[in-house]
Amino acid sequence: MKDISFADYLLVGLAVTTLVLAAEERVSCPKLCVCEIRPWFSPSSVYMEAPTVDCNDLGLFDLPMILPSDTQVVLLQTNNIAKIEHPLDYLPNITEIDLSQNNLSSISDVNIGHLPQLLSLHMEENWICALPDNRKALCWIQVIPTND
Ligand SMILES: *[C@@H]1O[C@H](CO)[C@@H](O)[C@H](O)[C@H]1NC(C)=O
Ligand SMILES: *[C@@H]1O[C@H](CO)[C@@H](O)[C@H](O)[C@H]1NC(C)=O
Repeated sequence: MKDISFADYLLVGLAVTTLVLAAEERVSCPKLCVCEIRPWFSPSSVYMEAPTVDCNDLGLFDLPMILPSDTQVVLLQTNNIAKIEHPLDYLPNITEIDLSQNNLSSISDVNIGHLPQLLSLHMEENWICALPDNRKALCWIQVIPTND
């Protein structure tokens, strides 16, 4: 009898733990974004399966406050982001950030922090390269990988 009730407690405990872990997992994917593993190629064409947070085309004015800690690729294309105020250096494995088609007007507004794994930072179609008769100029920055 004692054994059975201990086993029951254990099962309930495990179930609760699983639920809590599952809930934390879900909470850490920002609302409306899609978090999933996707194929990814580095600038030197190395294939990876990368935990990806896809927040493209959501009308966002800010970066989500917190992204899952295993995030490697953050897609924020086609939003209204004008400033990045919270550094992303809590994400140790981040390799690509896509900020193209946003409302950034100056590199100094992009405060992403120190990201040693970053290989690509896309910022085309913002307002950064202000040319006299073509404000929506094309900008593209690629950080060349140093270790392959
Ligand atoms: C970062 O990547 C390494 C190697 O793939 C992995 O062992 C580690 O758990 C990752 N870190 C996070 C926070 O996911
Ligand atoms: C883009 O930023 C400018 C200021 O730099 C602001 O006036 C404008 O309303 C912003 N546009 C959108 C769509 O957020």
